[in-house]
Amino acid sequence: MIDCGGRVKLRALERGDLEAVAGWLEQQPDGVFVGNHEFPVPRGKLERWYEAALAGEQEHPMAIEHQGALAGYLTFRVDWRHREAQLGAVLVAEAYRGRGVAQAALGGLLGALFGRWELNRVSLAVHAANQTAANLYRKLGMKEEGRLRRKFHLDGHWHDLLILARLADDPPP
Ligand SMILES: CC(C)(COP(=O)(O)OP(=O)(O)OC[C@H]1O[C@@H](n2cnc3c(N)ncnc32)[C@H](O)[C@@H]1OP(=O)(O)O)[C@@H](O)C(=O)NCCC(=O)NCCS
Repeated sequence: MIDCGGRVKLRALERGDLEAVAGWLEQQPDGVFVGNHEFPVPRGKLERWYEAALAGEQEHPMAIEHQGALAGYLTFRVDWRHREAQLGAVLVAEAYRGRGVAQAALGGLLGALFGRWELNRVSLAVHAANQTAANLYRKLGMKEEGRLRRKFHLDGHWHDLLILARLADDPPP
């Protein structure tokens, strides 16, 4: 469990949370790209992803709680050899958006990854058109490292992917 300050906490995602996650993913508009999920995400695929994450030791699916209620989820992978974490999906349910939930959750996660876990680098890839998410990550001190042009094909179009990262000794935002 990671206490992110205020009303937000991170805990391990449980099987019982998957129904809510599947519902949130179903509501994503076309063209939004969350982690490795393309839309629509069949429920069986989500469950297989979750079971594979539990069976392995690299991927960490976490529930975002706001005042004890499930408000979103995020995932990250850790490469211990190079002391790097890669963020995957970050999603806050619509009813909780715009209240600082993602910022608190990711701020708490970055604090734990650079602090308790002693990692050196945290990176992520985000759809270049997802300004909301890019603003959020920049606000958390993540810097743009590159743009992978025409990296994925979705809804009949090619899209660019941005790579952002923060290092342990980057100045805090
Ligand atoms: C991206 C997302 C996780 C943000 O969650 P949130 O809890 O609403 O974000 P916060 O309230 O913590 O906002 C923090 C910062 O993010 C940015 N942001 C959030 N919502 C925004 C919006 N609608 N437009 C522009 N920037 C926005 C801002 O920089 C904001 O800081 P500010 O409030 O001081 O301006 C949420 O919109 C979401 O789940 N979107 C769908 C899934 C997705 O795109 N995930 C990211 C890619 S994996």
